[in-house]
Amino acid sequence: MRILVTGGAGFIGSNLVRHLLREREDTLVRVLDTLTYAGNLDNLADISEDPRFEFMRGDICDHDAARAAMTGVDQVVHLAAESHVDRSIISADAAVQTNFVGTFVMLEAAREAGVGRFLHMSTDEVYGSSLTDRFTEDTPLMPRNPYSASKAGADRLAYSYFITHDLPVVIARPANNYGPWQYPEKLIPFFVYRALRDEHLPVYGNGMQMRDWLYVEDDCRALLTILDRGEPGEAYNVEAGNEHANLDTIRLILEELAKPESLIRHVEDRPGHDLRYPMDGSKLRALGWSPQMPWDEGIRLTVRWFAEHGEWMTRAVARGQEYFENWYAGR
Ligand code: NAD
Ligand code: DAU
Repeated sequence: MRILVTGGAGFIGSNLVRHLLREREDTLVRVLDTLTYAGNLDNLADISEDPRFEFMRGDICDHDAARAAMTGVDQVVHLAAESHVDRSIISADAAVQTNFVGTFVMLEAAREAGVGRFLHMSTDEVYGSSLTDRFTEDTPLMPRNPYSASKAGADRLAYSYFITHDLPVVIARPANNYGPWQYPEKLIPFFVYRALRDEHLPVYGNGMQMRDWLYVEDDCRALLTILDRGEPGEAYNVEAGNEHANLDTIRLILEELAKPESLIRHVEDRPGHDLRYPMDGSKLRALGWSPQMPWDEGIRLTVRWFAEHGEWMTRAVARGQEYFENWYAGR
């Protein structure tokens, strides 16, 4: 069995590749990744010599690269994306290209190659924001920022390849992942990075927005459950039942680092900030999956992991210098 993981040098991808090589002895893993600012071979260094692992550098928007990567592949887990909401607010260009056009190119290549399964990685953000009503997989998609709109387009394009071309597509819509190897532009690693330097923590608006935190290893198990047992054409919410207001999460980060709450600074809000993504996860749970990592333990070990990988964080932040200076100017 050979599995192609697009975006395998990123956060979830590198965790998934490691998980697959550890848990599935008979599986060969090929990564297709163009190595943007968020993708990094350091994230895969410990498994790079594994004979079951293969890395191909290439852009998912390039038909030739997609075809080459698809050769001899049984299943695809399509993760590659421009994954940051704030960057898509500065410019939607890369998100639209990679997330929508890139998904189209991968679907075409998968159809030509006749792969046995195509897992498309969507997100809970495709539903838009709700304070009360839980999103089921049948809730209409109402994305509210350019990132989530590009993901919603890709989600439905993947579905259309199942309906129109009978490509065995399954779709995952996970909540906010956290854990090792996340690029430090996202809330948890970015705030660890800044707190360790005694720099203020720029909390958007009042900080009362809620996120459902899903440990990345739990998400990896969820993705493989959907790949193995999901029904073609169906989408699956991946919720952790672990919602917290941002300010509470930030206080836990500060507590673990023994840093003062005076570092918290409320700054100009993210335009169109989604307040909450409450999901009903019973469809996936009925397939036998449930999250394992307790929040208290997961957040503490994640904060410690970043604190112990200071050089990795510094190099990662340096690759995004221009973005950080631009977006956080005045924040
Ligand atoms: P990430 O930004 O850490 O990694 C993205 C990877 O894709 C990087 O390795 C990057 O180099 C690669 N990539 C980007 N553009 C590419 C292109 N054109 N061709 C080939 N490779 C390209 O992202 P992540 O947080 O690991 O997210 C992975 C997927 O999961 C994305 O589809 C994202 O939308 C989705 N998702 C993420 C979360 C989360 O909380 N992180 C939650 C739900 C869904
Ligand atoms: O919900 C799934 C999504 O989760 C994924 O689809 C995205 O790829 C992933 O990036 C993540 O999106 P969010 O926008 O929720 O993640 P982010 O880490 O950017 O922000 C989390 C919360 O923290 C959000 O309410 C905004 C807030 N925040 C974030 C940053 C970076 C701040 O208050 N200040 C900040 O500087």
